[in-house]
Amino acid sequence: MRTPLLCFLHSLLVILYVAPASAYSEAETSWPETVRFDTGGLSRESFPKGFVFGTATSAYQVEGMAKKDGRGPSIWDVFVTIPGTIANNATADVAVDQYHRYKQDVDIMAKLNFDAYRFSISWSRIFPDGVGKVNWKGVAYYNRLIDYLLAKGITPYANLYHYDLPEALEKKYMGLLSYKVVKDYADFADFCFKTFGDRVKNWMTFNEPRVVAALGYDDGFFAPGRCSKLVGNCTAGNSATEPYIAAHNLILSHAAAVQRYREKYQAKQKGKIGILLDFVWYEPLTRSKADNLAAQRARDFHVGWFLHPIVYGEYPKTMQYIVGKRLPKFSKAEVMMVKGSMDFVGINQYTTYYMYDPHQPKPKLTRYQMDWNAGFAYNRKGVPIGPKIHEEVYKLAHMQAYSYWLYDVPWGMYKVLTYIKEHYGNPTVILSENGMDDPGNVTLPKGLHDTKRINFYKDYLTQLKKAVDEGANVVGYFAWSLLDNFEWRLGYTSRFGMVYVDYKTLNRYPKMSAYWFKQLLSGKKH
Ligand SMILES: *[C@@H]1O[C@H](CO)[C@@H](O)[C@H](O)[C@H]1NC(C)=O
Ligand SMILES: *[C@@H]1O[C@H](CO)[C@@H](O)[C@H](O)[C@H]1NC(C)=O
Ligand SMILES: *[C@@H]1O[C@H](CO)[C@@H](O)[C@H](O)[C@H]1NC(C)=O
Repeated sequence: MRTPLLCFLHSLLVILYVAPASAYSEAETSWPETVRFDTGGLSRESFPKGFVFGTATSAYQVEGMAKKDGRGPSIWDVFVTIPGTIANNATADVAVDQYHRYKQDVDIMAKLNFDAYRFSISWSRIFPDGVGKVNWKGVAYYNRLIDYLLAKGITPYANLYHYDLPEALEKKYMGLLSYKVVKDYADFADFCFKTFGDRVKNWMTFNEPRVVAALGYDDGFFAPGRCSKLVGNCTAGNSATEPYIAAHNLILSHAAAVQRYREKYQAKQKGKIGILLDFVWYEPLTRSKADNLAAQRARDFHVGWFLHPIVYGEYPKTMQYIVGKRLPKFSKAEVMMVKGSMDFVGINQYTTYYMYDPHQPKPKLTRYQMDWNAGFAYNRKGVPIGPKIHEEVYKLAHMQAYSYWLYDVPWGMYKVLTYIKEHYGNPTVILSENGMDDPGNVTLPKGLHDTKRINFYKDYLTQLKKAVDEGANVVGYFAWSLLDNFEWRLGYTSRFGMVYVDYKTLNRYPKMSAYWFKQLLSGKKH
């Protein structure tokens, strides 16, 4: 993008944005149709026939109306009320109000030439108590959203769980720590298949179950905020055992839902069902055997924790060996249910880290992250692994310092997709999240000039294409995210959207990257 054309574009934008932010109408933010972006040679033709492009969001992050129209609280509604937990003590009570503005949002997707929308269904909006009584106002909302998507030619991809367990089940039996959640989740999923499955043909059971188990139960960074005393200042928890128990119940819940779909609905509705897994690429820091094994352990404890049981019916051997008795076992009947329980796997891919063998004796503190026995590095011989997009070091209530880095490492995308192809039998893959954030305090019009995001998408998509050209069975790509939204503990201080949201007015302003996608996807679907 460092071309004369871009300089021209910049001066054009300065002219376009002379009015104060509050004076912008959304229509004024359209880029002139004559502006041509550099897509790096990519177009629809660069990808296989039928390849799907979409954007992704989740219920709690965009809907708002968290306490209204009959929705019951989820564990996140409780978590965000702990003072100091969320940046600026923000909540998602209003978020970006997609509950009311969904038509505008779908219109934006259609205008940008996207094919699909990946949203999530809030369990506690459908079943306020997790089970039993149905909130029909919640059902009506998802019906309106799905119908409008279809009316505008956007294919719905519905995810049934994005971190938001009904609080009622947390209270009743400690949520994911209880085996009881398996049936309750399958009943919720069953209701969704029955109610929406005539129109929704693409289902996902869970988003990032690894994040749910690790951040919820190992370091306590996410709801329900449980961890061992020595790990953080959580009120309760056991980081040595609970992450594994929660993950086990997540896998069984996933498999039980897939079983319901296959036995009761799939033949008639003719849809597909899968799961969404986050996958950071772990590159060995050096060529040593020890560092290669450390990187492999990291991949096993990260994506293998879930994908290995689903493909092969057991946890990775490294995990079985290291975690030992703390790792729950699948019964014979459960292996039958879990093995093969996906039509596709969604992979959320953002960044890459180096891994090394710390050459440490057995750690004193037993916990999930220590079980990896692998060290993280971000430089090799003083050279950073990639440009640092984002760095946050939090020191928030109930937590030790927590750091999060997003490095721009496009080749990690290629390695991740190639790894899945080679180690898991080349399953059908949807690249279900990819993107980068800007700081929350960027203002209009500067917040719309996201050339860095354009380059990020271009470079990652180029690496995705390379993996596909070499045979990886990737059938779709979803950018995270359509809109700036409630970014969990970061609240509104991190903007992942290709559409800027003014949090005062909730008006939407497509960023330059949105128009980049519009051009990329302007060709005929083939
Ligand atoms: C968040 O709330 C706590 C407790 O009320 C308060 O001490 C803290 O200053 C607040 N933080 C911000 C950024 O407003
Ligand atoms: C731990 O949490 C308690 C209860 O919320 C709080 O009073 C205390 O200050 C916290 N301690 C640390 C070290 O953060
Ligand atoms: C945004 O916040 C960052 C970090 O707090 C600060 O360094 C920067 O100056 C702020 N930018 C604006 C435009 O306020």
